[in-house]
Amino acid sequence: MNTKFNRRELLTALSSLGVLGTLPAAVTAGDVLPQRAIPGRRETLPIVGLGSTKPVRFIREAGTAPVESVIRKLISYGGSVVDTSPRPAELDARFGQVLQQSEFRDALFIATKITVFGKEQGIAQIEQTQRLFGRDPLDLLQISSLTDLETHWPTLRAWKEAGRVRYIGVTVAHERFYQRLEAFMKREAPDFVQLNYSVMEYSAEERLLPLAADLGIAILVNGPFMNGEFFAHVGGHELPDWSAEFDCESWAQYSLKYILAHPAVTCVLTETTKAQHMEDNARAGLGRLPDDAMKRRMRDYTSGF
Ligand SMILES: NC(=O)c1ccc[n+]([C@@H]2O[C@H](COP(=O)([O-])OP(=O)(O)OC[C@H]3O[C@@H](n4cnc5c(N)ncnc54)[C@H](OP(=O)(O)O)[C@@H]3O)[C@@H](O)[C@H]2O)c1
Repeated sequence: MNTKFNRRELLTALSSLGVLGTLPAAVTAGDVLPQRAIPGRRETLPIVGLGSTKPVRFIREAGTAPVESVIRKLISYGGSVVDTSPRPAELDARFGQVLQQSEFRDALFIATKITVFGKEQGIAQIEQTQRLFGRDPLDLLQISSLTDLETHWPTLRAWKEAGRVRYIGVTVAHERFYQRLEAFMKREAPDFVQLNYSVMEYSAEERLLPLAADLGIAILVNGPFMNGEFFAHVGGHELPDWSAEFDCESWAQYSLKYILAHPAVTCVLTETTKAQHMEDNARAGLGRLPDDAMKRRMRDYTSGF
């Protein structure tokens, strides 16, 4: 048995024992991401993660060094969550080699997806991901954008029962899926739901986030920067002075802190090819978060941009 704990493992263990809050400030202070519980489980996750679509595509032109340095930066802040989606096999094979490096293998919580139609095609896709990523069991398996939901959901349940995946769920990245998602959440109460949410796209607050809290569903957030569009909106505008009241250092953190202030959010996925952006994003998990009145002010401020 490996008896060496890295910082993340130690903090995760302490957090799940419920003793983290009782430790002296010096132990928890500094640059370690807080963790939130997966509802109904003893397991916790650090509140900022990586969405890997862009950095994996970037492997084609830049090799694996950029995505390695991004993941290394995430881990240095105590992060672990990496969301993935099946890509062409030659690309996932290279990414899979990164995920299996000894410095990353046991340090990450890997979420992946089914993106295709058809029962057999779905199973073949999961098996390929599992083989290329060298993960058995997978941590989290999601049906991407509710694709062929009724076909794949029984497969996911069977895989979970067989212990081939630890958690199962679904994703959406657009409001047009919300009605179907809500009905599915009420019917199946999946372990995880991934949805889009940001300071400029916040309609998940109306029904879905409160419902997730009621049903005990973990929430992963995608689109914190609307796939980068957010930066085009805020570009040229100064960060307001009052953002210092919730320890905000950048526009990226402005949206991330807005998201993280919602108690139903378990972890926000931020997609980047750059280690310094990963650092900026991880740092959003440190320090204070805005309260409801401040969140209204934040929405009002950026609504005109
Ligand atoms: N249906 C689905 O299941 C679905 C759909 C969409 C997304 N997702 C998931 O969500 C993840 C996030 O994707 P998203 O599309 O929503 O992207 P996003 O995180 O909202 O935005 C990513 C963009 O923001 C830039 N960026 C990141 N951090 C920055 C920072 N600190 N400062 C300035 N620019 C920054 C990145 O460029 P740089 O490379 O220059 O940093 C990138 O162009 C995806 O990777 C995926 O895992 C899932």
